[in-house]
Amino acid sequence: MVKKISIIGNGGVGASLAFHIVSRLNFEELVLVDISEDLAQGVALDLEDTRGFLGFSGKILGTRDSSHIIDSDIVVITAGLARREGMSRLDLLGTNAKIVSGICADIKKFCSSSIIIVVTNPLDFITYIVTKETGFLSTKVLGMGSSLDTSRLLNLLYKATGVSTDSLEAYVFGFHSNDMIVSDRRIRIKGENLSKFMDSEEIQDLKKRVRLRGAEIVSCLKNRSATFAPSLACYFLIDAIVNDKNIIIPVATVLKDAYGVNDVCVGVPCLINRNGIARIIEIDLTSEEKQEFEKISKLFSETKSAINYA
Ligand code: NAI
Repeated sequence: MVKKISIIGNGGVGASLAFHIVSRLNFEELVLVDISEDLAQGVALDLEDTRGFLGFSGKILGTRDSSHIIDSDIVVITAGLARREGMSRLDLLGTNAKIVSGICADIKKFCSSSIIIVVTNPLDFITYIVTKETGFLSTKVLGMGSSLDTSRLLNLLYKATGVSTDSLEAYVFGFHSNDMIVSDRRIRIKGENLSKFMDSEEIQDLKKRVRLRGAEIVSCLKNRSATFAPSLACYFLIDAIVNDKNIIIPVATVLKDAYGVNDVCVGVPCLINRNGIARIIEIDLTSEEKQEFEKISKLFSETKSAINYA
């Protein structure tokens, strides 16, 4: 049983994640923190009322007071602005960087041994900021983005080929942005190449749709972004940690002399267990993917200077 999980930010993603935890995980205490007046309290009361159906014994607290995160095993940061129609994730950087800096101070003060999962966008830069501001080992700060992108790819692959996701192997890595790395070379359908199932034009179209999936959702929802798949992606990370699963999930982490880059935070496949990131899996990159990493490194350096982390 996990003792204590805290979720900071209880809007769309935070509240939905809280429901996954209550429905699926054996927990002792779940703390929900939000600055918006009484929001976390309302979400907590609503969640508590599922007890009659689910029968859990854990305690749920909703509060504005961040000191209640004390001694959490896992802290999830979903606080901050979400994209609205016409915005890129990078447009959120200035505002969300300030929000998470304050949250990092609280985490350092109240639960310095926790594992942090970052959801707030722009994911890779915010995960970098959280790693630097808390001073936590990079193995303890996991950015959730590429696993969501991977699920989006699997869904679109299923729709294109009619093959169940159980028989598909695929993953997305790189930035959690429209520049994410979607290599068809890494897609296997029961060991076979994707080219046996789709022609090259269809594959290019599929890759484009995966990259733009988040924007497609925002353009329908208008004033908010996706919540169900992101919160479930985050839940799967928590499950891997709590249940010491030793499974490979792509997460954003600060790389040190890996993948040919240094001090760059980006999504790569990692072995996840009760320690957080047990190991970065360094896959052999194709020449195209190497070029993508060079671009990532350049953009990361430029953006770090812009936000005074150079
Ligand atoms: P939302 O607007 O529904 O909720 C954000 C919540 O954060 C609000 O309730 C707000 O009051 C709260 N908040 C703001 N500052 C706070 C602070 N200092 N302390 C505590 N709470 C604070 O947004 P949503 O849809 O839940 O998204 C949250 C973040 O997650 C956004 O930045 C969004 O872009 C990002 N996101 C990331 C994904 C990923 O794959 N990494 C996927 C989906 C969303």
